[in-house]
Amino acid sequence: MMYAANLFEDKVALVTGGRSGIGYGIAEALLKLGAKVAICSRKEAPLAEAAEQLSKLGPCRYQACDIRDGAQVERLAERIKSEYGRLDLLVNNAGGQFPSLARAISDNGWNAVINTNLNGTFYVSRIMAEHFFIPQASGNIVNIIVNMARGFPGMAHTGAARAGVENLTKSLAQEWATYNVRVNCVAPGTIISSGLHTYAEPVKALLEEMKADNLMGRHGRVEEVANAVLFLASPLSSYTSGTTLYVDGLDHLHSDRMRLVNGVRSS
Ligand code: ADE
Repeated sequence: MMYAANLFEDKVALVTGGRSGIGYGIAEALLKLGAKVAICSRKEAPLAEAAEQLSKLGPCRYQACDIRDGAQVERLAERIKSEYGRLDLLVNNAGGQFPSLARAISDNGWNAVINTNLNGTFYVSRIMAEHFFIPQASGNIVNIIVNMARGFPGMAHTGAARAGVENLTKSLAQEWATYNVRVNCVAPGTIISSGLHTYAEPVKALLEEMKADNLMGRHGRVEEVANAVLFLASPLSSYTSGTTLYVDGLDHLHSDRMRLVNGVRSS
């Protein structure tokens, strides 16, 4: 680890979706640098297990919370207030999607993805800002999106939702600059994380194609995403707000995703 070991000493961070994958890696990285952490996700049992592991690195509280439900997010804010008394960093990482061509996405599927990724991110951001960042006159939000700079064929719903989050980031960064709150995005490309094995075979084949297509010749690692979050969350980036940091091995400039999606479908 190349950051100072006390970089986040006395800082409190909430990582939504911190139970697994990229969110877990972000929580881990923050704890290693001295932060106090809270994680949430929908299901209590696996969340408790993750928090138990993470607690070996430092203080880690957890609370089950569906970010699509404002009342549950309010309760999460109250819990953070009673446990830690403040909040310095919100990492909006919770989200989800499923691979599907646009024509096969049902109304329900579409709404679920928009609701979690876009609406949920807005609810958590506004509620945590009202409870903590605005009254403290300090705060930091890092939104985990995805590289959808050239569209996201094969996952149009999440591309649209994440593009919404990126634009929301620009609005909130401007509205809340006066309260000393910075808001930025991290846009991962294809990352090897614990969720990857859940994909069906054609999607795994697509991932192999994407690896070959990547200009660095590989997928990204969870730590590489976490390191970008650490930078945006720390004073090292104190004059940076409203922006997006890609952690994608150049995919936002180069990848030919539609050709790859078609290739896998017809093979
Ligand atoms: N992770 C994925 N979906 C979520 C949700 N709705 N609430 C909290 N964590 C989540």
